[in-house]
Amino acid sequence: MRIVLGVSGGVSAFKAVEVCRRLVDAGHRVTPVLTDAARRFVGVATFSALASDPVPSGLWEPLEGGIAHTRLGQAADAVVVAPATADLLARYAAGLADDLLTATLLATSAPVVVCPAMHTEMWEHPAVAENVATLRSRGVHVVPPESGRLAGGDEGTGRMAEPETIVAAVLAVLGSGPAPAGTHDAPSGAARTGDLSGREVVVSAGGTREAIDPVRVITNRSSGKQGHAIAEAAAARGARVTLVTASGLPAPAGVHTVRVESAAEMAAAMASAASDADVVVMAAAVADWRPKVSALQKVHGVPELVLEPTPDILAGLAASRRPGQVLVGFAAETEDVIERAKRKLEQKGVDLLVVNDVSAPGAGFEHDTNEVTILGADGTSTLVPLGSKRQVADSVLDAVVARLRPGTLDRGSGPGTPGAEERAGQARRGESR
Ligand code: PMT
Repeated sequence: MRIVLGVSGGVSAFKAVEVCRRLVDAGHRVTPVLTDAARRFVGVATFSALASDPVPSGLWEPLEGGIAHTRLGQAADAVVVAPATADLLARYAAGLADDLLTATLLATSAPVVVCPAMHTEMWEHPAVAENVATLRSRGVHVVPPESGRLAGGDEGTGRMAEPETIVAAVLAVLGSGPAPAGTHDAPSGAARTGDLSGREVVVSAGGTREAIDPVRVITNRSSGKQGHAIAEAAAARGARVTLVTASGLPAPAGVHTVRVESAAEMAAAMASAASDADVVVMAAAVADWRPKVSALQKVHGVPELVLEPTPDILAGLAASRRPGQVLVGFAAETEDVIERAKRKLEQKGVDLLVVNDVSAPGAGFEHDTNEVTILGADGTSTLVPLGSKRQVADSVLDAVVARLRPGTLDRGSGPGTPGAEERAGQARRGESR
């Protein structure tokens, strides 16, 4: 595949060298396009030595087969910009084409992945946020920046994602490209049919409702669409599926569906269904707190609510799971998304954590679409670009299938994962949220 690697002028431009090397190693033809500012941070000679194609000098350079400002974009299978500075994002969002990189971005119909990098104040500025939202609404894939050390000794959110995350995102949007080094995601398409045949899969969905009194509840915005889509997709791939749902959506065809309302009911249903399962996916948005006392009669006037944590169902499942069972959690975040998710992955003791940035347009609660990053306990990170919740479900199941051991799991032994005892204690105390 032909990939244009755009590099704009930020200190993290040095990481683009590694992105270039990894894409070439994965068998792709890479043409680096550097802005004038990028050339102040990294040398053209470095990219020329690593890339498969020479670095074009600019808009006016004649290219084999056409003129540079349109030829590169027209011929590309994907364009990735790493780093994408605030200035580059603004020019791209505004449709400017005053250098070779922005002209290439306008001339392409291939998928585009941008990897913003800037200081925290700039990243949080409403102008930048609007430009990123505009680009997302046009289908551009955004690999969000991470938190850490920034230029000038500052700390905060804005550091460009690591090369392996960026490369995984590019390969994910290319779809049929070779699997990124260090990830286990299976190819899509025909390989999916029947690949969960004979497996037992348990999925939770929807937002639990914690009663204040017979009339009012504490709940959240989860519709259950994502969890139901996972149950449907697993059934279509041949699994026997149990769906434990707090949503009012219709039961998917061929799926054993258990209706629950509260976190306590979901905890009991999940513990019972999961004990024999090969795969457990907690896509539900469990209410984090519930009233300590739920009134038996309708409350009149304004009650003084005393809240207590609900049981941490996922940590409990991790603590009691059988060896070989693949356990998947979800995380809904609005800031420092990847950092928080990485911590959650470890705290919850899961194999995979599917991370939603629920503040991103078209992603998270209630939408028919979603965009997630799938983090693996083995260090992998895979961006699943904006698509239907069914498409996201299949990507999650691809990652699950790649982690299932051949044959059936050991249903006879007790909790078998490192740290299980400690997590069981945390789950009871509600400490692992
Ligand atoms: O239902 P939709 O409208 O389609 O929206 C989908 C979704 C955004 C709800 C879903 O994709 C999602 O992100 N679900 C998890 C939301 C959530 O509760 O995230 P969290 O970061 O608060 O929890 C982390 C994990 O712990 C989750 O797997 C959750 O199920 C689990 N948990 C949380 C609290 C608790 N008491 N027990 C749990 O098991």
